[in-house]
Amino acid sequence: MASTHGAHILVASNRGPVSYALDETGALTAKRGGGGLVSGLSAIGPEAGALWVCSALGDGDREAVRRGVGEEGVRMLDIDADVHADAYNGIANSALWFVHHMLYQTPLEPVFDAEFRRQWAAYETYNHAFAQALAEESAEGAAVLVQDYHLTLVPRMLRELRPDLRIGHFSHTPWAPPDYFRLLPDDIAAQVLGGILGADRAAFLTQRWADAFTDCCHAVLGPGIPSGTRIGVHGLGADADFLRERSHRPDVDERMAALREQIGAAPDGGARKTIVRVDRTELSKNIVRGLLAYRQLLEDRPEWRERVVHVALAYPSRQDLKIYRDYMDEVQRVADDINSRYGTPGWTPVLLHLKDDFARSLAAYRLADVALVNPIRDGMNLVAKEVPVVSDDGCVLVLSREAGAYEELGEDAITVNPYDVCGTARALHEALTMPLDERAERTKRLAAAATALPPAQWFLDQLHALDA
Ligand code: F6P
Repeated sequence: MASTHGAHILVASNRGPVSYALDETGALTAKRGGGGLVSGLSAIGPEAGALWVCSALGDGDREAVRRGVGEEGVRMLDIDADVHADAYNGIANSALWFVHHMLYQTPLEPVFDAEFRRQWAAYETYNHAFAQALAEESAEGAAVLVQDYHLTLVPRMLRELRPDLRIGHFSHTPWAPPDYFRLLPDDIAAQVLGGILGADRAAFLTQRWADAFTDCCHAVLGPGIPSGTRIGVHGLGADADFLRERSHRPDVDERMAALREQIGAAPDGGARKTIVRVDRTELSKNIVRGLLAYRQLLEDRPEWRERVVHVALAYPSRQDLKIYRDYMDEVQRVADDINSRYGTPGWTPVLLHLKDDFARSLAAYRLADVALVNPIRDGMNLVAKEVPVVSDDGCVLVLSREAGAYEELGEDAITVNPYDVCGTARALHEALTMPLDERAERTKRLAAAATALPPAQWFLDQLHALDA
């Protein structure tokens, strides 16, 4: 099946670099996404003959595939919508995501019943569609970089179809420790690990997640990594050049003026301090406990009332899942509760924005005094890396020790246990009172650590490691 034409470098991921929307007239509009992989791929240039294989996600994407509309260098797979929903919502986001982020409330969940098995079969079909497309599109000996928990079975499936290929798998999530990973039924746990071990190299964002993967292999499959798979770590960093340029465009200045207006001034006329957070409203981001910690701060330290504002940008994510919609409602409810409890005619303690707006995120980064990044568990968390780069006057980072970014930024951040609301409230106070010269020094070191491995280099390193 080896092809003499085909691509020499391939990337596979569920979500691709472009998506299509269908308007009421039937016209399609394309929207290009950003992110590490997009800028990483741009580093190798069009002459490298790279191809990105991704899935059609909505009606617009499916229509684009059917009409043959597409971008050079992207192949979108029109996988049956029900199969995709079972694989993506059912298995990837409701089982594998929950396991790796340790999100279950275990007295009642998970329940791996016949319905789960039915969805698992869809996950296999969906992975197989990717493996098949990659096998068709790859030139002899090509390098294939498979991304994330959606596609754990692809490396082994592809290896069987095309033994000549060099295959890498990269996990953008944390990896669960063995006791938690083994919540999965034994055969499924073995299939996930065995799927990734079909790759020549399995890579992770931090050493901690790489070690957890190895520990799971030992626990589930027996001692030793039972294949020739090499394990690697590539800590994706922030894209300093892009961020610095993008955050000084006029639309960001406009958003800054609007935010300043909403934040207002302290009773003595001085500037109010800002605690900023920016997240997809994702169950693992711990936005609710962040709000509870802020409420505790206002309770324990009344001197901060009227003098601080919590700017919380919480953008919608995975809204097909009820638990995500409920979580968003809870974020809104707790924010409203704080505002009605403590707010005054001239002061809104929490400014909560739910509509995705990248320019506003950058504006909030620029004016943050404190950035709150307190996930329950997170593969890396790029917000923690972006704020120190973009912040105008230096910013204190309050960082969960469960974020991957902690490995590189922990020393210059104020670190918190994400479950400890009182501890997080104390950390916020410490952050708000840090002397400005110390804050500036720490911000400089944070920005240097955060940009050590920019996306382009992160991507190239993985390609080179696959060659080695
Ligand atoms: O943050 C981890 C991650 O797996 C990213 O690699 C990926 O972009 C995202 O989660 C998936 O999110 P979504 O379900 O919105 O595509």
